[in-house]
Amino acid sequence: MSILRFIHISDTHIGTTPDYILYGYSPAVEARRLVDYLNHRLPFEPDFILHTGDVTYDPDPVAYELAWEILRELRYPIYFARGNHDEPDTMRRVLPNLPQGSGRIDYTFAQKGVQFIVLDSFGLVQPRGYLEASQLQWLTQQLEAAAGQPVVVVVHHLPTMTDNPWLDQHMTIENHDALFAALASHRDHIQGVFFGHIHVPSTTFRQGILCSSASAAFSQFIFPDVYPVDRLDVTAPGGFSLVTITPERTWISHHELGA
Ligand SMILES: [Fe+2]
Repeated sequence: MSILRFIHISDTHIGTTPDYILYGYSPAVEARRLVDYLNHRLPFEPDFILHTGDVTYDPDPVAYELAWEILRELRYPIYFARGNHDEPDTMRRVLPNLPQGSGRIDYTFAQKGVQFIVLDSFGLVQPRGYLEASQLQWLTQQLEAAAGQPVVVVVHHLPTMTDNPWLDQHMTIENHDALFAALASHRDHIQGVFFGHIHVPSTTFRQGILCSSASAAFSQFIFPDVYPVDRLDVTAPGGFSLVTITPERTWISHHELGA
């Protein structure tokens, strides 16, 4: 494989109108700024964009139309995972590169010899995540089929416990232990697990597997362990992560959009 570079974005939370405000920010305005930055200010050409879910805030078709009106301006292909705020049928209808069908959006795609396995981690209890037994079976099949090939796993929800009680209680995939039971024996060829949902860039190393989140596109949650949920510090600007994958390494850098 040659060097693969992708941009990890997440949690655009676009509303039904451009003037929708969340946490004091306009997600639509911030998403346009992000698209402009990625199109014109990167000193290289990424292979694609990965959006790890919560494309919209309310799963309203009008919000998806607005989101795609903004994101379609990106000069690069874009792949999506489903977030807890997302509605799968409308996603399939409006957004590109998603498998048709019904129910959860699980699929794979390949870029420069790296196999991406995207799982729909929509939860039984909001806003936590969950993976059904059939999804974990499918994941195992995909990992076995990609033996000897670099693999990236993509979900929306937090796939591991952290050191942060609020995140651990509210944002995790409930059965993350089962997820890692499926992943652990394939750690030698898993180059990372990428996710969103927690609105802050993070890195966790679990059972020999790298887990990484990107900031929300429009703002960040700062130190969510020390603020009550209704008074989260959301003052930091949103951003994105650059991910570089080669046969011997995964390198990630986080970038704020700034003023
Ligand atoms: Fe979310």
